[in-house]
Parts: sequence; C-alpha cells; structure tokens
Amino acid sequence: MEAQMANTLEQRRDDLRNTRKRNIKIELVQFCIALGLHYLCILEFALKYAMSIRRLEIKNLTKDRQSLVELARRAALSAYAPYSGFKVGAAVLMSDGTVYTGNNQENAAYGQSVCAERVALLYAQAQKPGVAPEAVAIAAIENGCLTTSPVTPCGACRQVFAETEQRYGRPVEILMTGEDVILSADSASDLLPCAFSSDTIK
Ligand code: THU
Repeated sequence: MEAQMANTLEQRRDDLRNTRKRNIKIELVQFCIALGLHYLCILEFALKYAMSIRRLEIKNLTKDRQSLVELARRAALSAYAPYSGFKVGAAVLMSDGTVYTGNNQENAAYGQSVCAERVALLYAQAQKPGVAPEAVAIAAIENGCLTTSPVTPCGACRQVFAETEQRYGRPVEILMTGEDVILSADSASDLLPCAFSSDTIK
C-alpha cells in the first residue's frame, strides 16, 4: 500500500516537472516569435525609408518635374525673408495640371513667419478645394545662390502635407531640391511616420 502511494506521488512529481518543461518551451518559442516580429518591423521601416526617398540629379528628372523645380526657384526669389536671409520657394502641381507657387513670409515677431510650403499648399487648396495636389517642389536661395544641399520641409509643413494626403486620399510627391541634386519622396507620409491625424481625435 505504502509502495503504491509512493509510486503515485512520484508519478505526480514527474507530471509536474514535464508540465513545467513544456511551459518553458512554449514561453521560449513565444519570446522568439515576438523578437522576430520586432526586428521585421524595424527592417520593414528601414527598407521603406531607403526605397521611398531617392537621391537624384535634377537633370535626370522628367521635363514636367524639372519645370516644377524651376517654378519653385523663381518663387524663392520673391520671398520675404529679411530676418533669416533664407529665401524658400515652393511650387505645387495640382492633378488638373495647374501650378501654384509660394514663398516664405517672415515677421518681426519671428514665430508668426510662415514657410514657403504652407503658403503655396494652403493657397492651392483654398483656390481649388476639389482638386488634389500631386507634387510639391521646394528650393532655397541663400546669399544669392541656390543651396547645394536639398531643402527639406520643417516638421509643421510635414504635418500639413500629411493632412493633405489624408484629405484627398492620395500621395503627394515631395521634391526637395538643391542646386544639382534632389531628394525625392513618393509620398509626404514617408517624411513623417506616425503623423498625428484625425483618426486619433474621432
Ligand atoms: N523655411 C521654409 O520656408 N521652408 C523650409 O522648408 C525650411 C525653412 C523658412 C522659414 C524661415 O523663414 C526661413 O526659412 C529660415 O528658417
């Protein structure tokens, strides 16, 4: 009788040990899957970024895009930038083929200055609320010369681009230009991952 009880107890201990071992194995597999998914997300973001923002030579752009860049450069010439001396121009190509341009408008109360991108894009949307903006070219002039490095939009302008993409349900191509080179993004949202949007406040 005692021997039988001892056997049953031993059996229970073995079962308990086996269950623990199985649980540890399951947790280990779950941990590995979570770690793998985490690295896949990072890889996906890096690949998306690397593929969506390209560095090109302006002379290799299509004629359409080259003329958009030219219009942004011309708009920069008439910027009102007495405080920074950094004159920025932006040209917005609408999907009906019209182009609206704008430039930075500074103010003695510095915080009230408005960037070229927002002047151009918001004006375009005010004129043609039913037409989606398709592409925006940005250029800047400093000390009378085009900047060598491409001008990239500030965070506030990126947020406004993101809203425009959401509003019209289509991407806005961003052409950030320097004298010879250009950084080209197929969609403004590539410049602002995890943008704040109306989805959050609904
Ligand atoms: N600025 C723009 O208009 N767009 C940009 O992409 C970057 C900065 C303006 C704001 C300010 O008038 C001046 O450039 C210097 O920051």
